[in-house]
Amino acid sequence: MPKTSDKAKLFTESVIRGMTRLATKYGAINLAQGFPDFPCPQELKDAAAKAIFEDYNQYSVTWGSPILREAIAAKAKRFNKIEAEPDENIVITCGTTEAMVAAQIALIDPGDEVIVFSPHYENYAPDAIISGARPVYLELDEEQGFRVNEEKLKEAFSSPRAKGIVLCTPNNPIGKVFSRDELKLIGDMCNDRDAICFTDEIYEHIVYDGFEHVSIGSLPSMADRTVTISGFSKTFSVTGWRVGYTIAEFQLSNAIKKVHDFLTVGAPHPLQVACAKALTLPDSYYRELKDEYDKRRNLLLSSLESIGFRCVKPHGAYYIWCDFSELDRESGDVTFAENLVRNGGVAGVPGSSFFMTGSTRGSKRIRFTFSKRLETLELASRRLENSLAKPRAA
Ligand SMILES: Cc1ncc(COP(=O)(O)O)c(C=O)c1O
Repeated sequence: MPKTSDKAKLFTESVIRGMTRLATKYGAINLAQGFPDFPCPQELKDAAAKAIFEDYNQYSVTWGSPILREAIAAKAKRFNKIEAEPDENIVITCGTTEAMVAAQIALIDPGDEVIVFSPHYENYAPDAIISGARPVYLELDEEQGFRVNEEKLKEAFSSPRAKGIVLCTPNNPIGKVFSRDELKLIGDMCNDRDAICFTDEIYEHIVYDGFEHVSIGSLPSMADRTVTISGFSKTFSVTGWRVGYTIAEFQLSNAIKKVHDFLTVGAPHPLQVACAKALTLPDSYYRELKDEYDKRRNLLLSSLESIGFRCVKPHGAYYIWCDFSELDRESGDVTFAENLVRNGGVAGVPGSSFFMTGSTRGSKRIRFTFSKRLETLELASRRLENSLAKPRAA
């Protein structure tokens, strides 16, 4: 019997995507995986259909349709304050997911260390491992308001093998929006250690309470050592389209381009053309996006708090990180989440999946997404209330 690779043994299947399967099996409302249950803008559907009828049906240039790269360069300049040449600095990928792993494969060597802030989106550790690197976890302390701790950051970078750091701002799962000062601190460390910052900014347009999204790649000292990663899934509610991108210095971008080519050849061509159209939507689109998510955030947050969860109020992205200790003193996070799907009809993601394997830090935490219609969130709130106020017999 042939054996599986040692690499593949170092990580498990995605718990988030596993919870979606469990939700489907039990007919539960899926507040586990971050995708909308409402349609994408009509303009995008029309643009995608038009692109197919106009015969954008063959491979695009491997690093992306020029139409889309030009649109991204303009958006990066205006919104992210990053200068990018469409032909030299941008690679279109199959989602942000491919962007992150292709960038790490291209720029990290086996034996290197990649620092990952925890709690973290669960793809980051497998991304480092697939690149042959070792993920090193740097915890953002909940007790300290999840602020970046300079001493801990220095310690993580003290290893001579530290080659990269993964940033996610606005953050999944805790909703933190990294401040300019924190980004400066991280940038200074990267410069000191000649390291690369891989920054996942997929939630860049979803920020609340006057918080400002800052791209670390816009700091002058970071322009040449940042891979800025984003995509269309969340901003335009098209998670199934699989279009994302990297922005990086020319040499870095060339390495990413090669890896991307041999991994996928290219992202779906007609959908790239439609994504270029998405970038022509007016500013009011982005205001409405924020306002709509703000309403959903407030609804779910107040329901969860009134039921007895202790919640971290997110300043960005579309997740709520909750402590369920007051509702269930005995169960661990996996049991709590599985019971909630089976008996309560609502799926969330167990907190432990956002920490390194074996850590107990997430054992009383669960993450819920509010990327759903208000009616869905109202129904989910009623179900949670019924289930947790009067637990059904097993
Ligand atoms: C932080 C983060 N990055 C990336 C992704 C996936 O992005 P994409 O659909 O562009 O691959 C997600 C999806 O939930 C996410 O939360």
